[in-house]
Amino acid sequence: MHFKTFFIIILVVILFLLWRSRGKERRMILERLPPGPSPAPVLGNVLQLRVKEPYKYYIELSKKYGSIFTIWLLDTPVVVISGYQALKDSMIGLGDEFSGRSDYPLLRKVTSGYGLLISSGDRWKQLRRFSITTMKNFGMGRRSIEDKVKEEASCLKQAFSTFGDSAFNPKDLLTEAVSKVICSVMYGQKLQSGDPQLQLLLRAINAYFGVLSSPLGQLYNIFPGIFGLFSGQLHDVFAIVEEAKASLKIEVEARMKTLDPSSLPRDFIEAFLIQMEEEKHNPNTEFNLNNLLCTLWNLLSAGSETTSTLRHSLLLMMKHPDVQARVQKEIDEVVGSDRCPSIDDRQNMPYTDAVIHEIQRSMDITPTAVPHKTLCDTEFNNYLIPKGTTVLPLLSSVLSDPELWKNPDNFDPENFLDENGRFKRNEAFVVFGMGKRACLGEALARVELFIFFTSLLQQFTFKATQPPEEIDITPTICSFGRVPRSYECYAVSRA
Ligand code: HEM
Repeated sequence: MHFKTFFIIILVVILFLLWRSRGKERRMILERLPPGPSPAPVLGNVLQLRVKEPYKYYIELSKKYGSIFTIWLLDTPVVVISGYQALKDSMIGLGDEFSGRSDYPLLRKVTSGYGLLISSGDRWKQLRRFSITTMKNFGMGRRSIEDKVKEEASCLKQAFSTFGDSAFNPKDLLTEAVSKVICSVMYGQKLQSGDPQLQLLLRAINAYFGVLSSPLGQLYNIFPGIFGLFSGQLHDVFAIVEEAKASLKIEVEARMKTLDPSSLPRDFIEAFLIQMEEEKHNPNTEFNLNNLLCTLWNLLSAGSETTSTLRHSLLLMMKHPDVQARVQKEIDEVVGSDRCPSIDDRQNMPYTDAVIHEIQRSMDITPTAVPHKTLCDTEFNNYLIPKGTTVLPLLSSVLSDPELWKNPDNFDPENFLDENGRFKRNEAFVVFGMGKRACLGEALARVELFIFFTSLLQQFTFKATQPPEEIDITPTICSFGRVPRSYECYAVSRA
């Protein structure tokens, strides 16, 4: 036999044996995955998954299989972790192992894997560390951000008062007020309401969040090829996000031309560009234009998340006028009517603090957080979760656990009050996620929720267009995130 032919046969045999042993290895790993419902051939558990509310299916499964189980999306295993203890042991106890971000098609589509939200490993570490430090430097969690929020709260009150006795939908005004706060950190200067760049950004964020939380978005995540090709709605959403990113790019490129790296940065964009300049000879740097644009998009869009909670908070106040009246009484006693509430007031307002926490708990805005993935083969609770497996932290299971809350199924501020009416902290308040990937905007979100909510209730009483008992507080669509129902309201002046 010719030497060349002999060599090729040997090579093929070696490759075949390697493939077989790896297949065996893979089968052995899959055998050690947590249990779960039997997957159908090819489709896995896709047909059982309720695309409208998958987290409800997961809660049912956790009752049958316990705190960790596997479902199959086509031929891909997804591990779901539920309950406070299991989430703490995994997300905090094995924080590094579970700190990867799953390659979610909807997230990847608009960022191509760049930016803080979807990245893992070293890219994520560099971008997260930088974002936290920079946002702190620009006032996050400090007095200066509070002043910006107060300023926007005052504009918001002004805008609400123009409706007088007429009913209106507060959605766009709330979104704009919240977005202007995060934009001021990113861009430095204050964007005016009519600014075309701000309007484009808001339209893109609205469209993107709409699809993220819709059954269509869920289907795209399972079958990106099919739904990406045939859905005109998805095509439109991706197009507007691209347009918004292109406008961010124009802004960044203009800054690059005028940047003086020796002077102090005035905002997030400048701080990033200076870091890019400093690290331009470092081969491992993640400070490049793609990561800047996508991190900007991540922070601006995630930073608008607070809007949904605020929208839901007004709906809940209309549904529970007694709670609204008690909050207003506390505002009147502690703040009065002549000045804007400030974050220092919160410690003297236990009832209001409890109400805001309860709004967030009962809303359960992201039932499965943002999907994680394991960064290495990970032993957990006697199971083996292979490297790269998508992991869903079922935050919903903690927020609705009857063992952890007095009254988990209803909106009840007593869930955060002790017998003396003092605010009672609860470790199970996990709305911002747990562990290394937990929300990095928590400090800002808390300031925003407190100042916007109390400022609005200081000046207005919110009334619905129908009697409270007819108000439906269940979200309209919910899969990735729960979106509050659209509504009209009256903002009745208290003066
Ligand atoms: C009520 C408001 C908010 C809620 C309930 C919320 C909740 C969350 C949750 C549940 C996660 C995922 C945690 C995980 O993967 O385990 C997250 C991630 C994130 N949030 Fe928020 N968030 C809010 C506001 C904000 C704000 C104002 C910002 C921006 C300043 C922000 C920026 C981010 C970012 C960048 C991530 C990704 C972090 C990473 O991947 O390392 N969020 N948030």
